[in-house]
Amino acid sequence: MRFKGSKGFILAGLTIFLGGMGPASLQATEVVSEEKQLLAMHQGRAHGGRHERHQQHHGMGRGGQGICPQTRVAPQAPDKIAQQKNPFESNAENFIKGESLYQWTAEPNPCKICHGPAGNGLGMMAQGLPAMPLNFTCSQTMKDVSDGQMFWIIKNGSPATGMPAYKFLSDDEVWKLILYIRHFDKN
Ligand code: HEC
Repeated sequence: MRFKGSKGFILAGLTIFLGGMGPASLQATEVVSEEKQLLAMHQGRAHGGRHERHQQHHGMGRGGQGICPQTRVAPQAPDKIAQQKNPFESNAENFIKGESLYQWTAEPNPCKICHGPAGNGLGMMAQGLPAMPLNFTCSQTMKDVSDGQMFWIIKNGSPATGMPAYKFLSDDEVWKLILYIRHFDKN
């Protein structure tokens, strides 16, 4: 098989480059044009798109901005829960409680190991999860995530994404965590 200039491209190479994240339907021998190749890189797939991964790769370890906006893949909370408002006011005491859980004390792991100490979703363990941890600093993404939705996911987890269920946290602790998380996109 011969290729003319840079027009020809074997998808197998792309698949390897992307670390095996390509859809299973990619044919090793299929040849695609440069435009199609670029389109694939930038559109990505609906869940954990390649463009998002690419952005994340450049942000790793450098305190990057994180993915913004981000395609969320966590399941939707039941309406009644999604509509609940945070019963705690944002005072220093509640904020500090939320901060210490997020940064240090939440079991089994503090949130920062995945969501990052700065909330940008680029924590130490972010790489290699089925989905990227949510970037809490991105207003465009966060405006669609209600307090109740966050409460539901923190309590129940989102197994398909790698987000654990925090069964040991009391309701009050979860609400204080949410107060703290909200501050990341108000800087
Ligand atoms: C092992 C990694 C990991 C840890 C630890 C972790 N998360 Fe997550 N989290 C994720 C991933 C992955 C997602 C999925 C993002 C998505 O929906 O696309 C997520 C999503 C979320 C969401 C968004 C839910 C939605 O509807 O989009 C919230 C809120 C959240 N996490 C809060 C927390 C809090 C609070 C903690 C600590 C108590 C925590 N996370 C710890 C990986 C983690």
